[in-house]
Amino acid sequence: QIVPLIVCGGSGTRLWPASRASRPKQFLPLFGDLSTFQETMRRVSGAELFGRPVIVTNQDHRFLVADQLLSIGVEADIVLEPEARDSGPAIAAGAAFIAARDGAKTPVLTLAADHRVRDIEGFRAACVAARRGAAKKSIVTFGVVPNQPATGYGYIEAGEPLVDGVMKVRRFVEKPDAETATRYVREGYLWNSGNFLFEAGFFLSEYARCEPDTIEAVNEAVAKAKLDLGFLRLDAEAFARCGKRSVDYAVMEKTQAAAVVPASFDWSDVGSWGAVRELSPQDEAGNAKLGEALFVNARNNLVSSERQLVCVVGLDDLAVITTGDAVLVARRDDAAGIKALVEKLKQSH
Ligand code: GDD
Ligand code: MG
Repeated sequence: QIVPLIVCGGSGTRLWPASRASRPKQFLPLFGDLSTFQETMRRVSGAELFGRPVIVTNQDHRFLVADQLLSIGVEADIVLEPEARDSGPAIAAGAAFIAARDGAKTPVLTLAADHRVRDIEGFRAACVAARRGAAKKSIVTFGVVPNQPATGYGYIEAGEPLVDGVMKVRRFVEKPDAETATRYVREGYLWNSGNFLFEAGFFLSEYARCEPDTIEAVNEAVAKAKLDLGFLRLDAEAFARCGKRSVDYAVMEKTQAAAVVPASFDWSDVGSWGAVRELSPQDEAGNAKLGEALFVNARNNLVSSERQLVCVVGLDDLAVITTGDAVLVARRDDAAGIKALVEKLKQSH
């Protein structure tokens, strides 16, 4: 069985004001009743293919995670980070926990908690292919065909075949500049979807080759972890010594053992309000609403409103988002602008 490892410590600033530090986007029910975290858990539950999942999250979100699991009836082991050290140490801690719980040869499927996938069958088929790759001492990524030269993704150049449905990775480049990204799209590179499949022990040994100090610290943080009300708390002193880097920079750009399964399933990381519009039902004019909204002579807008009625007249391509305490009006796809806004808010509050 493949053990799902869900990392959900991101802050999701590009979906402000709905996404907040106390309740980041992966825990919001953006598309109906379930959050993307809950949808992710559902995707890897109840099938023969998957074992008992492990979640690595920040200690501040432990009750949110436990509540959301309870409401969908899914059980998991929950590992708590005393502080955010980015995705590298989070994944390494999860892998070390799984190696101790289930053995070093256990295949681990690392999943981001803030992605949307609707083709469950296609997703599972890709996991089966990736497991074949992982058995060949590889860290397998899931590659997505890019639809624009976005700079917020990792780019993968696929190489020769490894096993059926899996290719070796010739090059992995995290978040290239716009010019390089444009060239990569032209040359047929794939986007890294941010999910990985590997054997726990093999991943840790590759990570240790890249950053031995981090893996030493992770092993100590797991060995000294304490159970607290059913949560496993990593040792704070040891975990603080981990290199604060994402898995993409820490391992994927450096390892020679990366492989890729071209994903045939639909995929979105819901990285902007524009993406939320695309994934939501729209009227004939392309307007989408979450909550109460009216549109007159307006096209391709998104309204998300917790309480008030929001009306848009004579304007196109906007995101209008209201929560109890804030209103955002922005160009629909200006994720970078919102990121900058949140930085500004942090400084002024
Ligand atoms: N537990 C924990 N702790 N999880 C974390 C932490 C942390 O400190 N930091 C990030 N994560 C989780 C996020 O919640 C998310 O599920 C995942 O790790 C990826 O982190 P992001 O911060 O969302 O990364 P990104 O979007 O900039 O880039 C990654 O995803 C892209 C696809 O969405 C990279 O893997 C890119 O290469 C990839 O293209
Ligand atoms: Mg992301």
